[in-house]
Amino acid sequence: MTLTSGNPTADRRFEIAMQLRERGDEQAALELMGQTLELVPAWPEGRFVLAEMLAAAGQSQAATVAFEAYLAIDPGDSMGAAAKLAALGLAPVRSLSPAYVERLFDQYAKRFDKALVEGLKYNAPKQIRDALSAHFPGRRFARCLDLGCGTGLMGAAIRDLVTTLVGVDLSAGMLAEAKSKNIYDELAHSSLQEALTRERVSVDLILAADVLVYVGDLAPVMMAVATALQPGGLLAFTLQVSTEAEFRLGADQRFSHNEGYVTDGVSAAGLNLMTLTHSSFRQERKIDVPGLLIVAAISA
Ligand SMILES: C[S@@+](CC[C@H](N)C(=O)[O-])C[C@H]1O[C@@H](n2cnc3c(N)ncnc32)[C@H](O)[C@@H]1O
Repeated sequence: MTLTSGNPTADRRFEIAMQLRERGDEQAALELMGQTLELVPAWPEGRFVLAEMLAAAGQSQAATVAFEAYLAIDPGDSMGAAAKLAALGLAPVRSLSPAYVERLFDQYAKRFDKALVEGLKYNAPKQIRDALSAHFPGRRFARCLDLGCGTGLMGAAIRDLVTTLVGVDLSAGMLAEAKSKNIYDELAHSSLQEALTRERVSVDLILAADVLVYVGDLAPVMMAVATALQPGGLLAFTLQVSTEAEFRLGADQRFSHNEGYVTDGVSAAGLNLMTLTHSSFRQERKIDVPGLLIVAAISA
């Protein structure tokens, strides 16, 4: 990604600061970065890079202040300062900003399928499809919401069981890939939370394959799912599993959730747990990442 401040002198200073950083001259790079921001104090990307450099130099307090200065300029947090602060152990984080998730996946969209399926052996869509077929043999669905549909891997796996398939995603780049595959009847550029509140007792299947790992607190999502589902409707989703309390954001910028926290959230929303399977849906550095597959139903 090429960053530009809109000020040629500042851009030149920034470029040299990056070269100094690459050469390992951290102190000189930091000084020049400071001088760059004197010219363009409200340049969000510059503020963010300065904060990252301070964190890399072990100056935690200064890094925290710098990330906060960035957040003051870009409250939508499109570069993911909250996630960085959490990964550095500088502040807990309960959610990722939609602007950050969108930016992350817009950058990833073109190479997503190859990277996930070939590189990380991603197979959550197949495991969700198999779980539904095993526990509800022969069942078909009238209207399905595929939350965080991405490029459509989940949609492709479920298409033949669904009459109207609706994909929802924050990332326009991912949606463009999904559209090109011609799998969905409707695609919505929206957060899953907003999409769920638009549906009122109108869907009989809700899927979330590898998407709730970008949502920390699941309680509001479970409540919204319960209001969107028709009687007897199903929710199927995958998560990364953690033994820590409730949920935590890892260095991989994905949340993992505690099993008890998740099952409590499912029942608090009035959903009945149908199956819970410990499995792995992807690898990280060739090691299986432990996960959970859950299917829940609302009473008929
Ligand atoms: C790892 S991909 C999984 C895509 C797809 N479900 C699959 O199985 O291939 C996660 C997707 O969720 C989307 N996403 C993350 N948080 C979201 C949210 N709060 N609302 C809507 N989409 C979200 C991302 O943009 C991304 O496309």
